[in-house]
Amino acid sequence: MNPIKVGLLGIGTVGGGTFRVLQRNQEEIARRAGRAITIAMVADRDIAKVRAIAGDTVRVTANAFEVVDDPEIEIVVELIGGTSIARELVLKAIENGKQVVTANKALLATHGNEIFAAAQRKGVTVAFEAAVAGGVPIIKALREGLSGNRIEWIAGIINGTSNFILSEMREKGSSFEAVLTQAQQLGYAEADPTFDIQGIDAAHKLTILAAIGFGIPMQFAACYTEGIAELTSQDIRYAEELGYRIKLLGVAKRMPQGFELRVHPTLIPAKRLIANVEGVMNAILVKGDAVGQTMYYGPGAGAEPTASAIVADLVDVTRMHTVDPRHRVPHLAFQPDRLSALPILPMEAVETSYYLRMRVDDRAGVLADITGTLADLAISIDAMVQKEPGEGEKQVDIVMLTHLTREKSINAAIARIEALPFVSGKVTRIRLEELGQG
Ligand code: HSE
Repeated sequence: MNPIKVGLLGIGTVGGGTFRVLQRNQEEIARRAGRAITIAMVADRDIAKVRAIAGDTVRVTANAFEVVDDPEIEIVVELIGGTSIARELVLKAIENGKQVVTANKALLATHGNEIFAAAQRKGVTVAFEAAVAGGVPIIKALREGLSGNRIEWIAGIINGTSNFILSEMREKGSSFEAVLTQAQQLGYAEADPTFDIQGIDAAHKLTILAAIGFGIPMQFAACYTEGIAELTSQDIRYAEELGYRIKLLGVAKRMPQGFELRVHPTLIPAKRLIANVEGVMNAILVKGDAVGQTMYYGPGAGAEPTASAIVADLVDVTRMHTVDPRHRVPHLAFQPDRLSALPILPMEAVETSYYLRMRVDDRAGVLADITGTLADLAISIDAMVQKEPGEGEKQVDIVMLTHLTREKSINAAIARIEALPFVSGKVTRIRLEELGQG
Protein backbone atom coordinates (compact mmCIF):
# COMPACT_ATOMS: atom_id res chain seq x y z
CA MET A 1 0.00 0.00 0.00
CA ASN A 2 1.18 3.54 -0.77
CA PRO A 3 2.37 5.65 2.13
CA ILE A 4 -0.27 7.98 3.57
CA LYS A 5 0.74 11.58 2.87
CA VAL A 6 0.86 14.09 5.67
CA GLY A 7 1.05 17.88 5.43
CA LEU A 8 2.68 19.65 8.36
CA LEU A 9 1.63 23.18 9.24
CA GLY A 10 4.55 24.63 11.19
CA ILE A 11 7.90 22.98 11.81
CA GLY A 12 8.99 24.52 15.10
CA THR A 13 10.03 22.52 18.15
CA VAL A 14 7.16 20.03 17.99
CA GLY A 15 7.07 19.84 14.18
CA GLY A 16 10.81 19.10 14.11
CA GLY A 17 10.30 16.40 16.76
CA THR A 18 7.46 14.87 14.73
CA PHE A 19 9.62 14.75 11.63
CA ARG A 20 12.45 13.04 13.52
CA VAL A 21 10.24 10.49 15.29
CA LEU A 22 8.42 9.55 12.08
CA GLN A 23 11.72 9.07 10.32
CA ARG A 24 13.54 7.23 13.09
CA ASN A 25 10.67 4.84 13.88
CA GLN A 26 9.31 4.51 10.36
CA GLU A 27 9.43 0.73 10.30
CA GLU A 28 7.74 0.25 13.67
CA ILE A 29 5.14 2.83 12.71
CA ALA A 30 4.36 1.16 9.38
CA ARG A 31 4.05 -2.22 11.13
CA ARG A 32 1.48 -0.69 13.45
CA ALA A 33 -0.43 1.47 11.00
CA GLY A 34 -0.47 -1.02 8.14
CA ARG A 35 1.19 1.44 5.78
CA ALA A 36 4.00 3.98 5.87
CA ILE A 37 3.27 7.51 7.08
CA THR A 38 5.21 10.18 5.21
CA ILE A 39 5.44 13.93 5.60
CA ALA A 40 5.06 15.07 2.01
CA MET A 41 4.59 18.79 2.45
CA VAL A 42 5.51 21.40 5.06
CA ALA A 43 4.25 24.94 5.48
CA ASP A 44 6.54 27.30 7.35
CA ARG A 45 7.67 30.85 6.80
CA ASP A 46 11.27 29.82 7.47
CA ILE A 47 12.02 27.74 4.37
CA ALA A 48 15.70 27.38 5.29
CA LYS A 49 14.70 25.82 8.62
CA VAL A 50 12.44 23.32 6.85
CA ARG A 51 15.29 22.35 4.54
CA ALA A 52 17.66 21.98 7.50
CA ILE A 53 15.26 19.55 9.19
CA ALA A 54 13.72 17.73 6.23
CA GLY A 55 16.33 18.12 3.50
CA ASP A 56 14.75 18.00 0.05
CA THR A 57 12.42 15.10 0.85
CA VAL A 58 9.35 17.36 1.18
CA ARG A 59 7.58 20.07 -0.74
CA VAL A 60 7.79 23.38 1.08
CA THR A 61 5.56 26.44 1.04
CA ALA A 62 5.22 29.56 3.13
CA ASN A 63 1.46 29.49 2.60
CA ALA A 64 -0.27 26.96 4.88
CA PHE A 65 -3.48 27.11 2.81
CA GLU A 66 -1.58 25.46 -0.06
CA VAL A 67 -1.13 22.41 2.15
CA VAL A 68 -4.77 22.11 3.21
CA ASP A 69 -5.85 22.56 -0.42
CA ASP A 70 -3.34 20.07 -1.83
CA PRO A 71 -5.12 16.98 -3.27
CA GLU A 72 -2.20 14.68 -2.42
CA ILE A 73 -2.35 15.43 1.34
CA GLU A 74 -4.63 13.12 3.33
CA ILE A 75 -3.78 14.19 6.89
CA VAL A 76 -3.06 17.74 7.99
CA VAL A 77 -1.05 18.22 11.19
CA GLU A 78 -1.72 21.69 12.61
CA LEU A 79 1.15 22.99 14.75
CA ILE A 80 0.79 26.68 14.09
CA GLY A 81 -0.95 27.48 17.37
CA GLY A 82 -3.24 30.40 18.13
CA THR A 83 -6.92 30.48 17.44
CA SER A 84 -7.55 32.58 14.34
CA ILE A 85 -5.49 31.37 11.35
CA ALA A 86 -5.32 27.89 12.90
CA ARG A 87 -9.14 27.80 13.08
CA GLU A 88 -9.46 28.81 9.43
CA LEU A 89 -6.89 26.23 8.36
CA VAL A 90 -8.46 23.41 10.34
CA LEU A 91 -11.96 24.22 9.07
CA LYS A 92 -10.66 24.42 5.50
CA ALA A 93 -8.85 21.10 5.87
CA ILE A 94 -12.09 19.53 7.15
CA GLU A 95 -14.08 21.06 4.30
CA ASN A 96 -11.54 19.53 1.91
CA GLY A 97 -12.13 16.12 3.49
CA LYS A 98 -8.71 15.87 5.18
CA GLN A 99 -8.14 14.14 8.49
CA VAL A 100 -6.68 16.53 11.04
CA VAL A 101 -4.21 16.09 13.89
CA THR A 102 -3.62 19.04 16.19
CA ALA A 103 -1.75 19.89 19.38
CA ASN A 104 -3.66 23.15 19.69
CA LYS A 105 -5.45 23.15 23.06
CA ALA A 106 -6.41 26.83 22.85
CA LEU A 107 -8.11 26.20 19.51
CA LEU A 108 -10.04 23.17 20.72
CA ALA A 109 -11.01 24.68 24.08
CA THR A 110 -12.40 27.80 22.42
CA HIS A 111 -13.61 26.58 19.00
CA GLY A 112 -13.78 22.81 19.52
CA ASN A 113 -17.58 22.64 19.37
CA GLU A 114 -17.60 24.26 15.94
CA ILE A 115 -14.64 22.20 14.70
CA PHE A 116 -15.98 18.83 15.86
CA ALA A 117 -19.43 19.57 14.43
CA ALA A 118 -17.83 20.37 11.06
CA ALA A 119 -15.71 17.20 11.21
CA GLN A 120 -18.76 15.15 12.12
CA ARG A 121 -20.69 16.49 9.15
CA LYS A 122 -17.81 15.77 6.81
CA GLY A 123 -17.05 12.34 8.28
CA VAL A 124 -13.43 13.14 9.13
CA THR A 125 -11.47 12.86 12.35
CA VAL A 126 -9.83 15.65 14.34
CA ALA A 127 -7.34 13.94 16.66
CA PHE A 128 -5.79 15.81 19.58
CA GLU A 129 -3.79 13.56 21.90
CA ALA A 130 -0.92 16.08 21.92
CA ALA A 131 -3.18 18.91 23.08
CA VAL A 132 -3.22 17.74 26.70
CA ALA A 133 -0.21 16.74 28.78
CA GLY A 134 2.23 16.36 25.87
CA GLY A 135 3.37 12.77 25.63
CA VAL A 136 0.99 11.36 28.28
CA PRO A 137 -1.74 9.38 26.46
CA ILE A 138 -4.51 10.78 28.67
CA ILE A 139 -6.98 11.42 25.85
CA LYS A 140 -6.84 7.80 24.76
CA ALA A 141 -7.10 6.57 28.36
CA LEU A 142 -10.01 8.80 29.32
CA ARG A 143 -11.92 8.45 26.07
CA GLU A 144 -11.45 4.74 25.51
CA GLY A 145 -9.70 2.96 28.38
CA LEU A 146 -12.13 4.27 31.00
CA SER A 147 -15.30 4.18 28.92
CA GLY A 148 -16.97 1.70 31.28
CA ASN A 149 -16.85 4.24 34.11
CA ARG A 150 -18.90 7.14 35.28
CA ILE A 151 -16.10 9.67 35.72
CA GLU A 152 -16.48 11.43 39.09
CA TRP A 153 -13.56 13.83 39.00
CA ILE A 154 -10.33 14.68 37.25
CA ALA A 155 -7.46 16.53 38.92
CA GLY A 156 -4.30 17.29 37.02
CA ILE A 157 -0.97 19.01 36.96
CA ILE A 158 -1.27 19.96 33.32
CA ASN A 159 1.07 22.88 32.91
CA GLY A 160 4.71 21.87 33.01
CA THR A 161 6.02 25.43 33.14
CA SER A 162 4.07 26.29 36.31
CA ASN A 163 5.01 23.00 37.89
CA PHE A 164 8.65 23.57 37.05
CA ILE A 165 8.49 27.05 38.60
CA LEU A 166 6.80 25.81 41.79
CA SER A 167 9.26 22.91 42.12
CA GLU A 168 12.29 25.18 41.74
CA MET A 169 10.85 27.75 44.15
CA ARG A 170 10.25 25.05 46.76
CA GLU A 171 13.46 23.08 46.31
CA LYS A 172 15.95 25.86 45.66
CA GLY A 173 14.16 28.88 47.07
CA SER A 174 14.66 30.56 43.64
CA SER A 175 12.64 33.60 42.69
CA PHE A 176 9.61 33.33 40.45
CA GLU A 177 11.15 35.51 37.71
CA ALA A 178 14.46 33.62 37.57
CA VAL A 179 12.75 30.26 37.18
CA LEU A 180 10.37 31.57 34.52
CA THR A 181 13.32 32.74 32.41
CA GLN A 182 14.90 29.30 32.80
CA ALA A 183 11.64 27.58 31.72
CA GLN A 184 11.48 29.77 28.62
CA GLN A 185 15.10 28.97 27.76
CA LEU A 186 14.33 25.26 28.07
CA GLY A 187 11.43 25.64 25.60
CA TYR A 188 8.68 24.59 28.04
CA ALA A 189 6.76 27.85 28.15
CA GLU A 190 4.13 28.91 25.65
CA ALA A 191 5.01 31.65 23.14
CA ASP A 192 3.15 33.93 25.53
CA PRO A 193 4.23 32.70 29.00
CA THR A 194 1.34 34.49 30.68
CA PHE A 195 -0.74 31.58 29.34
CA ASP A 196 1.34 29.29 31.55
CA ILE A 197 1.61 31.34 34.71
CA GLN A 198 -1.93 32.71 34.69
CA GLY A 199 -3.37 29.21 34.40
CA ILE A 200 -4.85 29.78 30.94
CA ASP A 201 -2.94 26.93 29.28
CA ALA A 202 -4.04 24.58 32.09
CA ALA A 203 -7.64 25.82 31.71
CA HIS A 204 -7.56 25.04 27.99
CA LYS A 205 -6.41 21.51 28.76
CA LEU A 206 -8.87 21.04 31.64
CA THR A 207 -11.73 22.16 29.39
CA ILE A 208 -10.80 19.38 26.96
CA LEU A 209 -10.44 16.75 29.70
CA ALA A 210 -13.79 17.67 31.25
CA ALA A 211 -15.49 17.50 27.87
CA ILE A 212 -14.32 13.95 27.18
CA GLY A 213 -14.60 12.83 30.81
CA PHE A 214 -18.19 13.96 31.34
CA GLY A 215 -19.53 14.20 27.80
CA ILE A 216 -20.11 17.95 27.87
CA PRO A 217 -19.38 20.61 25.24
CA MET A 218 -16.18 22.65 25.44
CA GLN A 219 -16.86 25.50 27.87
CA PHE A 220 -13.57 27.32 28.34
CA ALA A 221 -15.25 30.64 29.15
CA ALA A 222 -16.90 29.05 32.20
CA CYS A 223 -13.63 27.70 33.62
CA TYR A 224 -12.44 29.54 36.74
CA THR A 225 -8.78 30.38 36.20
CA GLU A 226 -6.20 31.60 38.70
CA GLY A 227 -2.45 31.35 38.11
CA ILE A 228 0.66 31.15 40.24
CA ALA A 229 2.04 34.67 39.94
CA GLU A 230 0.75 35.73 43.37
CA LEU A 231 2.20 32.75 45.23
CA THR A 232 5.00 33.51 47.67
CA SER A 233 7.79 31.20 48.79
CA GLN A 234 6.53 31.89 52.32
CA ASP A 235 3.20 30.19 51.55
CA ILE A 236 5.03 27.31 49.88
CA ARG A 237 7.07 26.91 53.09
CA TYR A 238 4.10 27.23 55.48
CA ALA A 239 2.16 24.68 53.42
CA GLU A 240 5.11 22.32 53.63
CA GLU A 241 5.28 22.70 57.42
CA LEU A 242 1.62 21.62 57.54
CA GLY A 243 2.34 18.56 55.37
CA TYR A 244 1.20 19.93 52.00
CA ARG A 245 2.67 20.87 48.62
CA ILE A 246 1.30 23.65 46.46
CA LYS A 247 0.59 22.74 42.84
CA LEU A 248 -1.24 24.48 40.02
CA LEU A 249 -4.11 22.03 39.72
CA GLY A 250 -6.92 21.71 37.21
CA VAL A 251 -10.00 20.23 38.88
CA ALA A 252 -13.12 19.03 37.08
CA LYS A 253 -15.77 17.49 39.29
CA ARG A 254 -19.22 16.06 38.72
CA MET A 255 -21.74 17.45 41.21
CA PRO A 256 -25.50 16.83 41.35
CA GLN A 257 -26.34 20.28 39.91
CA GLY A 258 -23.55 20.56 37.36
CA PHE A 259 -19.78 20.43 36.94
CA GLU A 260 -16.96 22.21 38.73
CA LEU A 261 -14.29 23.43 36.31
CA ARG A 262 -11.43 25.29 37.95
CA VAL A 263 -7.69 25.92 37.74
CA HIS A 264 -5.89 27.40 40.74
CA PRO A 265 -2.92 26.89 43.05
CA THR A 266 -3.88 24.07 45.39
CA LEU A 267 -2.53 22.52 48.57
CA ILE A 268 -2.26 18.74 48.19
CA PRO A 269 -1.16 16.40 51.02
CA ALA A 270 2.58 15.84 50.50
CA LYS A 271 2.10 12.07 50.84
CA ARG A 272 -0.02 11.84 47.67
CA LEU A 273 1.80 10.55 44.60
CA ILE A 274 0.61 13.54 42.57
CA ALA A 275 2.07 15.99 45.11
CA ASN A 276 5.48 14.56 44.24
CA VAL A 277 5.27 15.26 40.53
CA GLU A 278 8.09 17.71 40.00
CA GLY A 279 9.60 19.85 37.28
CA VAL A 280 8.05 19.89 33.84
CA MET A 281 6.31 16.56 34.36
CA ASN A 282 2.53 16.34 34.17
CA ALA A 283 0.16 14.00 36.00
CA ILE A 284 -3.57 13.51 35.83
CA LEU A 285 -5.62 11.68 38.43
CA VAL A 286 -8.94 10.35 37.24
CA LYS A 287 -11.57 8.97 39.58
CA GLY A 288 -13.97 6.53 37.93
CA ASP A 289 -16.78 4.82 39.83
CA ALA A 290 -15.67 1.34 38.80
CA VAL A 291 -11.88 1.56 38.65
CA GLY A 292 -11.34 4.05 41.51
CA GLN A 293 -8.38 6.38 41.08
CA THR A 294 -5.92 5.99 38.22
CA MET A 295 -2.99 8.27 37.54
CA TYR A 296 -1.28 9.14 34.26
CA TYR A 297 2.19 10.60 34.49
CA GLY A 298 4.83 11.77 32.05
CA PRO A 299 6.44 14.64 30.18
CA GLY A 300 3.90 17.35 29.45
CA ALA A 301 6.01 19.30 26.98
CA GLY A 302 9.07 19.07 24.76
CA ALA A 303 9.74 18.17 21.15
CA GLU A 304 9.76 14.38 21.10
CA PRO A 305 7.30 13.73 23.97
CA THR A 306 4.73 15.86 22.15
CA ALA A 307 5.71 14.25 18.84
CA SER A 308 5.04 10.88 20.47
CA ALA A 309 1.39 11.89 20.91
CA ILE A 310 1.13 13.36 17.42
CA VAL A 311 2.55 10.24 15.79
CA ALA A 312 0.17 8.06 17.85
CA ASP A 313 -2.69 10.10 16.41
CA LEU A 314 -1.25 9.71 12.92
CA VAL A 315 -1.20 5.94 13.39
CA ASP A 316 -4.79 5.97 14.70
CA VAL A 317 -6.04 8.14 11.88
CA THR A 318 -4.23 6.02 9.28
CA ARG A 319 -5.83 2.83 10.64
CA MET A 320 -9.28 4.43 10.73
CA HIS A 321 -8.99 6.23 7.42
CA THR A 322 -11.27 3.90 5.54
CA VAL A 323 -13.61 3.04 8.42
CA ASP A 324 -17.23 4.20 8.26
CA PRO A 325 -17.23 7.45 10.32
CA ARG A 326 -20.17 6.15 12.40
CA HIS A 327 -17.90 3.40 13.71
CA ARG A 328 -15.09 5.69 14.88
CA VAL A 329 -14.63 6.77 18.48
CA PRO A 330 -16.62 10.02 18.88
CA HIS A 331 -14.45 13.14 19.23
CA LEU A 332 -15.66 13.84 22.76
CA ALA A 333 -15.99 10.17 23.72
CA PHE A 334 -19.79 10.41 23.90
CA GLN A 335 -22.12 10.44 20.90
CA PRO A 336 -22.44 14.08 19.80
CA ASP A 337 -26.24 14.07 20.23
CA ARG A 338 -25.91 12.70 23.78
CA LEU A 339 -23.84 15.44 25.43
CA SER A 340 -24.96 16.59 28.89
CA ALA A 341 -26.59 20.01 29.18
CA LEU A 342 -25.86 20.35 32.92
CA PRO A 343 -24.09 23.68 33.56
CA ILE A 344 -20.61 24.52 34.78
CA LEU A 345 -21.14 25.72 38.34
CA PRO A 346 -20.19 29.26 39.33
CA MET A 347 -17.11 29.45 41.57
CA GLU A 348 -19.18 30.58 44.58
CA ALA A 349 -20.98 27.21 44.51
CA VAL A 350 -17.73 25.22 44.66
CA GLU A 351 -17.08 23.31 47.87
CA THR A 352 -13.51 22.68 48.97
CA SER A 353 -11.13 23.29 51.88
CA TYR A 354 -8.96 26.35 52.29
CA TYR A 355 -5.59 27.57 53.50
CA LEU A 356 -5.88 31.08 54.93
CA ARG A 357 -2.94 33.26 55.96
CA MET A 358 -3.38 36.57 57.68
CA ARG A 359 -1.11 39.07 59.39
CA VAL A 360 -2.45 40.24 62.74
CA ASP A 361 -1.47 42.18 65.87
CA ASP A 362 0.01 39.90 68.48
CA ARG A 363 -2.38 40.53 71.40
CA ALA A 364 -5.18 38.96 73.44
CA GLY A 365 -8.58 38.45 71.80
CA VAL A 366 -7.38 38.57 68.19
CA LEU A 367 -7.66 34.86 67.59
CA ALA A 368 -11.04 34.67 69.31
CA ASP A 369 -12.46 37.33 66.97
CA ILE A 370 -11.15 35.53 63.89
CA THR A 371 -12.40 32.11 64.91
CA GLY A 372 -15.71 33.74 65.93
CA THR A 373 -16.05 35.20 62.43
CA LEU A 374 -15.46 31.80 60.89
CA ALA A 375 -17.88 30.14 63.32
CA ASP A 376 -20.61 32.69 62.41
CA LEU A 377 -20.34 31.49 58.82
CA ALA A 378 -20.30 27.81 59.87
CA ILE A 379 -16.70 27.39 58.68
CA SER A 380 -14.95 24.70 60.67
CA ILE A 381 -11.19 24.92 61.30
CA ASP A 382 -9.10 21.82 60.65
CA ALA A 383 -5.65 23.10 61.76
CA MET A 384 -4.11 26.36 62.89
CA VAL A 385 -0.57 27.66 63.39
CA GLN A 386 0.56 30.96 64.80
CA LYS A 387 4.06 31.79 63.59
CA GLU A 388 6.62 33.33 65.93
CA PRO A 389 6.96 37.11 65.49
CA GLY A 390 10.21 38.26 63.90
CA GLU A 391 12.77 40.16 65.98
CA GLY A 392 11.12 43.38 67.24
CA GLU A 393 7.89 42.72 65.31
CA LYS A 394 4.49 43.27 66.88
CA GLN A 395 2.58 41.35 64.24
CA VAL A 396 2.42 37.67 63.48
CA ASP A 397 1.22 35.39 60.69
CA ILE A 398 -1.68 33.10 61.44
CA VAL A 399 -2.23 30.17 59.10
CA MET A 400 -5.46 28.18 59.17
CA LEU A 401 -6.76 25.19 57.26
CA THR A 402 -10.52 24.80 57.04
CA HIS A 403 -12.74 21.80 56.58
CA LEU A 404 -14.90 21.62 53.46
CA THR A 405 -16.88 24.77 52.92
CA ARG A 406 -18.48 26.79 50.13
CA GLU A 407 -16.41 29.36 48.27
CA LYS A 408 -19.23 31.83 48.92
CA SER A 409 -18.80 31.42 52.70
CA ILE A 410 -15.03 31.84 52.48
CA ASN A 411 -15.41 35.00 50.41
CA ALA A 412 -17.71 36.42 53.10
CA ALA A 413 -15.31 35.36 55.88
CA ILE A 414 -12.30 36.91 54.15
CA ALA A 415 -14.15 40.20 53.65
CA ARG A 416 -15.07 40.31 57.35
CA ILE A 417 -11.60 39.32 58.56
CA GLU A 418 -9.92 41.94 56.35
CA ALA A 419 -12.20 44.57 57.92
CA LEU A 420 -11.07 43.73 61.48
CA PRO A 421 -8.91 46.54 62.91
CA PHE A 422 -6.05 44.30 64.00
CA VAL A 423 -5.63 42.58 60.60
CA SER A 424 -3.12 44.11 58.16
CA GLY A 425 -3.45 43.81 54.42
CA LYS A 426 -5.12 41.04 52.50
CA VAL A 427 -5.89 37.51 53.63
CA THR A 428 -4.12 34.96 51.42
CA ARG A 429 -6.47 32.19 50.34
CA ILE A 430 -5.32 28.99 48.65
CA ARG A 431 -7.71 26.13 47.97
CA LEU A 432 -6.94 22.66 49.30
CA GLU A 433 -7.83 19.27 47.86
CA GLU A 434 -7.27 16.06 49.83
CA LEU A 435 -7.57 13.85 46.70
CA GLY A 436 -8.22 10.86 48.92
CA GLN A 437 -9.91 7.66 47.86
CA GLY A 438 -13.40 8.92 48.82
N1 HSE B 1 3.48 25.39 27.94
C1 HSE B 1 2.96 24.06 28.11
C2 HSE B 1 3.37 23.61 29.50
C3 HSE B 1 3.53 23.14 27.08
O1 HSE B 1 4.16 24.28 30.16
O2 HSE B 1 2.88 22.59 29.95
C4 HSE B 1 2.64 22.15 26.47
O3 HSE B 1 1.31 22.39 26.45
